[in-house]
Amino acid sequence: AAPVGYEAERSPATCDGTLDSNHAGYSGTGFCNGRNAVGAALQFTVDAPQAGTATLTFRYANGTTAPRPAALTVGGASAGQVSFAPTGAWTTWATATLTVPLGAGATTVRLSPTTGEGLPNIDRLEV
Ligand code: GCU
Repeated sequence: AAPVGYEAERSPATCDGTLDSNHAGYSGTGFCNGRNAVGAALQFTVDAPQAGTATLTFRYANGTTAPRPAALTVGGASAGQVSFAPTGAWTTWATATLTVPLGAGATTVRLSPTTGEGLPNIDRLEV
């Protein structure tokens, strides 16, 4: 099936930070600028027609020179780490892709930063 997009700035997503639009190149109306703190999470709720293996593609920008690592949970269960490497500028958006098991129906996909720098700016998730 074609990927479905979920914007970080649109309910039911929740962003522990601000919804900003000051760095061009985002989709929708803006992006999640998470607080620069451990655990300042961004949570999406995605809807899969059937259980199976899903590809999660996060679109993000990291204008610093260091990765912004985050713990990923899917449906509350640990699903690994995402490193969010530097993209070169806050206006340069890239994708980070993972493959995870995903149940049917509404499921939370949560990114929780593991360092005090917090998350990168996150534009959207495609599943
Ligand atoms: C800058 C940038 C923000 C970004 C922040 C950060 O302030 O303008 O968009 O979120 O750095 O380091 O997280």
